[in-house]
Amino acid sequence: MTKQKKIVAISGSIREGSSNTNILKALSAFIPEGIDYIIYNGIQDLPHFNPDIDRMKPPAVVEDFRKTLDESHALIICTPEYAKGVPGVLKNALDWLVSSAELYKKPVAVITASPSIAGGDKAHESLLLTLGMLDVTIVKNGSLLVPTVGTKFTNDAKVSDENTKQSLVALINSIVDEINS
Ligand SMILES: Cc1cc2nc3c(=O)[nH]c(=O)nc-3n(C[C@H](O)[C@H](O)[C@H](O)COP(=O)(O)O)c2cc1C
Repeated sequence: MTKQKKIVAISGSIREGSSNTNILKALSAFIPEGIDYIIYNGIQDLPHFNPDIDRMKPPAVVEDFRKTLDESHALIICTPEYAKGVPGVLKNALDWLVSSAELYKKPVAVITASPSIAGGDKAHESLLLTLGMLDVTIVKNGSLLVPTVGTKFTNDAKVSDENTKQSLVALINSIVDEINS
């Protein structure tokens, strides 16, 4: 029997009412039937990364995070930019995956969204460098900036801007093609 395909999504914002989490919710409309899509909301519970702890038995929250990614077929990250960089909570989560390699060669798409016109380009670039270290596969159409995010989505997680919608559909289609290939 073929294993059910699963896409995991992580928001770099743990803020209630986050525009980035809202985008991840909006993406669910474009996921074909038969593919599980879950938004993992536990990164704020991970301890600060410490290689000493990593060498011993890691805490249950770390194991749960790693298991979730290990069982996934693809990852979508949607994040804001904080102070021209990747939010610490997201970078910390990714640091926990360096030695355990759950993302190795896995299809990944990265979205940065910002109220600014630059769309969080510095965080985007930095995140791609980190993901390069983790040796993931960034899918075709899988690197997307969403500037002026406040004008493009409704509060109930629907895309209200046609160009953004097309970019998100292309991103999901590439992820799905990759995990079905
Ligand atoms: C401490 C802090 C630093 C920020 N730095 C940046 C930044 O460097 N670039 C940017 O585009 N937006 C920056 N912002 C604005 C965020 O992009 C904005 O608050 C965004 O809505 C956060 O994403 P969220 O809605 O998903 O929580 C910053 C916001 C805060 C609170």
